[in-house]
Amino acid sequence: MRVLSGIQPTGRPHWGNYFGAIRQYIDLQTEEFAYYFVANLHALTTIRDKEQLHQNSIDTALDMLALGLDPNHAVLFIQSDVPEVSELCWILMSGAPMGLLERCVSYKDKLAKGLTSVTGLFTYPVLQAADILAYDSDIVPVGADQTQHIEVCRDIAQGFNHQFGEVFVIPRAKVLDSSAKVPGTDGEKMSKSYGNFIEVFEDEKSARKKVMRIATDSRPMEEPKDPDTDHLYQLYSLFANDKEREEMAALYRKGGFGYGDVKKSLADAAANYFAPARERRAELAAKPEEIRQILGDGAATARKKASQVLKRAQEACGLK
Ligand code: ADP
Ligand code: TRP
Repeated sequence: MRVLSGIQPTGRPHWGNYFGAIRQYIDLQTEEFAYYFVANLHALTTIRDKEQLHQNSIDTALDMLALGLDPNHAVLFIQSDVPEVSELCWILMSGAPMGLLERCVSYKDKLAKGLTSVTGLFTYPVLQAADILAYDSDIVPVGADQTQHIEVCRDIAQGFNHQFGEVFVIPRAKVLDSSAKVPGTDGEKMSKSYGNFIEVFEDEKSARKKVMRIATDSRPMEEPKDPDTDHLYQLYSLFANDKEREEMAALYRKGGFGYGDVKKSLADAAANYFAPARERRAELAAKPEEIRQILGDGAATARKKASQVLKRAQEACGLK
């Protein structure tokens, strides 16, 4: 199976992104072919600062590598280093029905959030389709918000195949398990847009401060509590092992503990959990030559595949 996914370099990952997405992507790197790329062309539709786009792209690659993406298993590259994708995008755009894109909710959502209505934002799903089809991807792991884009990709690919012959592999979405939404510091879903997040690589002191400020109820210490409905316990569970989780749950049921102690345990557990990744990231960041090499090798492998698929598409529709 060929697995592929793209990560937009629009900000640093928070705990919700890690448990809800990144960890699950990385788990799929053991598939026969696993391609992951930093979607800097997609980010160009919203980030209009040269330094920021460049730095974010490197940071995203570093984050993925630090969190366990292994270049010996998976191919990691920067989207724009494979120009074949942009060329394929035009071929797909030439046949993609307007109505298909007009129905996409992400475009409407972005406009509603006040983003500038640029053409690239509207045609964004076609570029995503080119990303996927260029590597004969079978499986595309994505969050639930992206399933419509995978449907668009399938429609575009089927339309092309119908007209010109079997050129593209029809991919399937693998919707990541987001049943356990990671709560934020206010108890609502952790999200960049709610300002209730703690970043994976946040300075330890600042992360601890945020943990100590997590909203809790004002029930007295003696009162027994149900761990399963408590967001502090949910957060602690993400970082604790089975034994620690059980012990904490028993403490909740018994009562007589303070939320302050749970917060301290949570801050310690989170710091320990991410310590190896933090160390790896610092090591890698100090070796820009190595990063360049990994991304260069990744792009070379990706280009080899994408140029074969592009050639197939060009021949099929009369461009060669
Ligand atoms: P944000 O809400 O912070 O802008 P994104 O929409 O960029 O996050 O999400 C990127 C990925 O991380 C998606 O696959 C999404 O499902 C996952 N994700 C984001 N927040 C959470 C959360 N609180 N719990 C679980 N998964 C999350
Ligand atoms: N649109 C995706 C997101 O915002 C990122 C992305 C770009 C992508 N190209 C892709 C994801 C191809 C999967 C496959 O998260």
